[in-house]
Amino acid sequence: MKKTILITGCSSGIGYCVAKGLQARGYQVLATARKQADVVTLEAQGLESFRLNLTDSNSIHFAFEETLRRTNGELYALFNNGAFGLPGAIEDLSRDALREQFETNVFGWQELTNLAIPVMRRQGYGRIIQNSSVLGLVSLPFRGAYNASKYAIEGLSDTMRLELRGTNIYVSLIEPGPITSQFRTNSMKALLKYIDIENSVHREKYQGVLNRLNKPGPAAVPFTLPPEAVLDRVIHALESKQPQPHYYVTFPTYLFGALRRLLPTRMLDFLLAKSGNNN
Ligand SMILES: NC(=O)c1ccc[n+]([C@@H]2O[C@H](COP(=O)([O-])OP(=O)(O)OC[C@H]3O[C@@H](n4cnc5c(N)ncnc54)[C@H](OP(=O)(O)O)[C@@H]3O)[C@@H](O)[C@H]2O)c1
Repeated sequence: MKKTILITGCSSGIGYCVAKGLQARGYQVLATARKQADVVTLEAQGLESFRLNLTDSNSIHFAFEETLRRTNGELYALFNNGAFGLPGAIEDLSRDALREQFETNVFGWQELTNLAIPVMRRQGYGRIIQNSSVLGLVSLPFRGAYNASKYAIEGLSDTMRLELRGTNIYVSLIEPGPITSQFRTNSMKALLKYIDIENSVHREKYQGVLNRLNKPGPAAVPFTLPPEAVLDRVIHALESKQPQPHYYVTFPTYLFGALRRLLPTRMLDFLLAKSGNNN
């Protein structure tokens, strides 16, 4: 019998790559997307697909029922992936902006996960894989909303791991640094939607942010990796008898993952402020 996996955010980037890669590896992949046009495209490429919008509880419940209908009530794994980054200084973030960031990146993920856990408990096995970020480990200026959403995912996942001990349900966090995807394009849209650049004290700095998001090519040469680097870690988290709690991906993750343990806060802040202002 094929192993089943439900994935969110498969219209582009990591979700798309992992969906294709796991299907080629023999999994039954439920590759969900927020927009109907993307569902049609994914289906045309031979993937099973239907809509799942993380900001909409009805959509989450409907998609989960559809998943179980297609898998005869079983679910081996959930890959929580769909998310976006809202750039901007914290003092420029409205309540609505923060809410949108958390509705998508945190509350939608947990609502879906809480539907999956009872199914996994009943069947006696399961894998929950959370696509976090190096920005769930350390903070950068002008990424506060996104940072906070990924820290929330880290906290929820660490706690779930403790609460699910001994159940044969494993929770793994993937911590990518820069990966080629539509992430910057989508961040730009969020920035223009939610930040009042003209009336911000950071008006000039936002020009730098816009330039960074507009820059063609990889985000952080030479550290950017293709999404296949994440696929590798997802495969390990799915197939290892002892999946790791944290999977680092890209050099910046290894670097900052180590530095945050080694350096005093002020020294780490110095490096993060410099690194954040440079890109
Ligand atoms: N790329 C990186 O450098 C990087 C680094 C660290 C972590 N990550 C994490 O990797 C994951 C995937 O991002 P990516 O890099 O592949 O970026 P991406 O190409 O922008 O893909 C993001 C996916 O999330 C979907 N999404 C956004 N809002 C959604 C919603 N409300 N409901 C359902 N799906 C929604 C997008 O759908 P639409 O097309 O409809 O917007 C898209 O399919 C995210 O969790 C991100 O935080 C990425």
